[in-house]
Amino acid sequence: MPVTTIIGAQWGDEGKGKLAHLLAADQDYVLRYQGGSNAGHTVISDGQTYKFNLMPSGMLIDGIRCILCDGVVANPVTLAWEIENLRRLGHYRGELFVSRHAHLVLPFHKTQDLYFEEAKGNSAIGTTKQGIGPAYADKYFRVGLRAGDMLLPDFEARVKGLASRKNVLFGGYYDRDLMDPDAVWAEVQPTLELLAPLVKDTIGMVRHAISEDARILLEGAQGTLLDIDYGTYPFVTSSHPISGGALLGTGISWRELHRVVGVAKAYNTRVGAGPFPTEDTGPDGQTMAKTGAEFGTVSGRPRRCGWLDLPLLRYATQLNGFTELAIMKTDVLDEFERIKVCVAYEIDGKRLDWPDMAPEVLERCQPVYEELPGWKVSTSSMRSEGELPSELSDYLELIAREAGAPVRIVSVGADRNATIML
Ligand code: IMP
Repeated sequence: MPVTTIIGAQWGDEGKGKLAHLLAADQDYVLRYQGGSNAGHTVISDGQTYKFNLMPSGMLIDGIRCILCDGVVANPVTLAWEIENLRRLGHYRGELFVSRHAHLVLPFHKTQDLYFEEAKGNSAIGTTKQGIGPAYADKYFRVGLRAGDMLLPDFEARVKGLASRKNVLFGGYYDRDLMDPDAVWAEVQPTLELLAPLVKDTIGMVRHAISEDARILLEGAQGTLLDIDYGTYPFVTSSHPISGGALLGTGISWRELHRVVGVAKAYNTRVGAGPFPTEDTGPDGQTMAKTGAEFGTVSGRPRRCGWLDLPLLRYATQLNGFTELAIMKTDVLDEFERIKVCVAYEIDGKRLDWPDMAPEVLERCQPVYEELPGWKVSTSSMRSEGELPSELSDYLELIAREAGAPVRIVSVGADRNATIML
């Protein structure tokens, strides 16, 4: 049962897009199982850079079938734009489907995200303002609209009805501008012709693909530490990026998961607010930010940077059942004399090997660092395990031992060729 899952082991932006594109070449299907256009997956293919928000990055591959599955929240306006853009570039090569059950992110969800963040002031989460939280909230409140509703004759009335109900909230609770339901419809209506034919019973498609032993790649978005239940709540996203979420979001059962690849950078980054024990706001963190071009793909915000946190990586490995790790962007550390790596925390005079995810505790955890010698050579043109400097191999061994999963993939640059399989 060849089902592979790619999962972010940190706070997102680990390089899942590059890896998904690389592994998708041997697949029949690429499925997204959660999140929406808060994701920003960068893929460099044939020297051209692509930024995917909603579309699975497999769409660059001829004949592959890509599905936005049940656990995704899809903004029709963003999706239509992405489809048209990829077609304009001549690179819309796969076949795209959207689950009838995927919830829609509509214009008022983005407005609600914005108002909610502004109302929170200093305690704002720092969301991507893509309307993700409000769309998932409507889903669980059981008032949301789903992709399948686009096929119904009263879809217009449903959209306008929800827009009107949001106005009660916007006007009364936030004391903010109202959204004209007709204007909301005017944004959504032009996407229907393009999107409605893509909406399918994808549970049936996925089950059929499994029964045919098709090769399936599940492309996670965000990362384990942003999981709504297992992340640093409330500084999290509103879905389940972890492997349990991959099952929930696609209709694939645990028996069918075959390979669970945990993707982590050789250091750590975070966008938005929330605890980050190894954050380095000094020269080391600034070097990582500059060398690693650490700016959010969706929001353009600078990412916070710091050293690798092994207790958090161990946590992610256990929660997800990673069968292997992919360590990305090791080249960003090429220039460092010493590599620091957090092996435990200290809090109130006690040593902790396991993270306490309560933000008020995690933010008081002081990292205990081990220091390793840097490799001080450029690794970005290396293409085989034998070429890697011994200091980097030692670092990878330490990561595997402490995290509890073998490192099988090392990425030494943005291009898909700059990848070493161990
Ligand atoms: P939301 O998902 O837009 O609601 O944002 C919630 C939190 O998740 C914020 O801290 C965002 O910066 C973070 N986040 C959401 N999507 C991504 C992503 O794809 N990469 C990194 N951080 C993300």
